[in-house]
Amino acid sequence: MFNSSILSTFQDQETPFYYYDLALLQETLDVCKQAADRYNFHVHYAMKANFNQKVVEKIKDAGFGADCVSGNEVKQAIEIGFAKDKVVFAGVGKSDREINEALENDIFCFNVESVQELGVINELAAAAGKNAGIALRINPNVDAHTHHNITTGLEENKFGINHWELHDCVEALKELPNITLIGIHFHIGSQITNLSVFKSLCVKVNEIHRWFEERGHSIKILNVGGGLGIDYHQPDEKPVADFEEYFRIFDQFLERKAGQEVHFELGRALVAHSGTLISRVLYVKNGIKKHFLVLDAGMTELMRPALYQAYHKIENISRVEGDVVKYDIVGPICESTDCFGKEVEMPQSFRGDMIAIRSAGAYGEVMASKYNLRDQVKSVYSK
Ligand code: LLP
Repeated sequence: MFNSSILSTFQDQETPFYYYDLALLQETLDVCKQAADRYNFHVHYAMKANFNQKVVEKIKDAGFGADCVSGNEVKQAIEIGFAKDKVVFAGVGKSDREINEALENDIFCFNVESVQELGVINELAAAAGKNAGIALRINPNVDAHTHHNITTGLEENKFGINHWELHDCVEALKELPNITLIGIHFHIGSQITNLSVFKSLCVKVNEIHRWFEERGHSIKILNVGGGLGIDYHQPDEKPVADFEEYFRIFDQFLERKAGQEVHFELGRALVAHSGTLISRVLYVKNGIKKHFLVLDAGMTELMRPALYQAYHKIENISRVEGDVVKYDIVGPICESTDCFGKEVEMPQSFRGDMIAIRSAGAYGEVMASKYNLRDQVKSVYSK
C-alpha cells in the first residue's frame, strides 16, 4: 500500500500531480552505485526516462553520467552539472544542429547508428576543428523477451548497425580523420525481467568484440545499454531493482581486457518506483456491466497503459476498508484507450477519493502530452 501517512500533506494539493519519493530514489541510486562500483562498472542515467530537474540533480549528485537522446537533453545535462566527459549522445536521427551543439560542448561520446551518420559527424567535427569520440551502436539481434513496442535489438528494428554493415563502417573510419572509435554499444530493449537475456547479450558482445580485435581495433569501451526491468506488480515488496544480480551477470559473462571500461545506460530501474501519479475520483459511474471510476488524470499524464497496455498498480489511498468493487479506472480524455486498468479491485470508492497510480517515475511525466489542451502536470516532492 502506498504510504498513506503523507495523505494529509496532499489534501490541499490540486490533482493530478506526480509525487516523487526522494528518499526511495536516493536508496535506489545508492544500491545501484555500490553494486556497479564493486565491478568498476560505469552507469550513465538514461535521461529519457525522467528529466524532472530535481530527480536528475539527485542522480548527478550520486555520481552517475548522463545518456542523452536529443540536443535538449545534452543541454539540460550540462546545465544541471554533469561533467562533460560523462555525457553521451545517442539516437537514430541526430540533426546537424544537435551534433554541432554536442561538439561545441566537447561531450564524451556519440553513439552512432549508421555509416551515413559517421560521415556527417566527421564533416561537422572537421568544420568545427574538433575530433569526436564515437561508439558504434550495433544491433546484436538478441530477443529481449519484452513488449514488442519496447524491443530494439532485433534485425527488424530501426536501431543500430547490423553485423553485415560492420565491415563498411570499419573501412569508412579509415577515411574519417575527425572521429575516433572508442567503443561499441548495444541496447536490446526495455523492461527486461528475464535476466538470462543479458547473458545472451554478453555472448553476442564477446563475439562482436573479438571481430574488432581481430581487425586490429582496440576497443576502450563496451557499452551494454540499459533495460533492467522493475516489478510493477510489487512496488512495496520490491521497491529497488535487483542491481546486484544484474551486474553480476555482466561481470561473469562479459569478456573484458585490462583497462577496458564497461558502461551501462539505465533509466527505468533507477527512477520508476519513486514516482507515483496522484489523482482524484471525479465521478463514479455505475453501469450494469461495468463500474467506472473517472479520474482527473488521464493518458495525457501517464500514457504507458494506453500505449503499451502497461500495468500499473492502482490504489485508493483515501479508503483502506469497505466492500470490494471491481472498477475500470479511466481518465477524462476523449479516447477509449484512456484507461489505466480494467476490473481493478478496490474498496467502494467515492467522488473526491485520492487514487495512487504506482511506479510511474519512469516514462511517466516525461511522456505527458497537451492533447485536449490539458494543463502541464505538476510535481510534488517528499522532504
Ligand atoms: N539506452 C538506449 C539506447 C535506449 O533506447 C533506452 C531506452 C535506454 C538506454 C534506457 O532503457 P531502460 O533502462 O529505461 O529500460 N517508453 C517506454 C520505454 C522506452 C525505452 C526507450 N529506450 C516505456 O514506457 O516502457
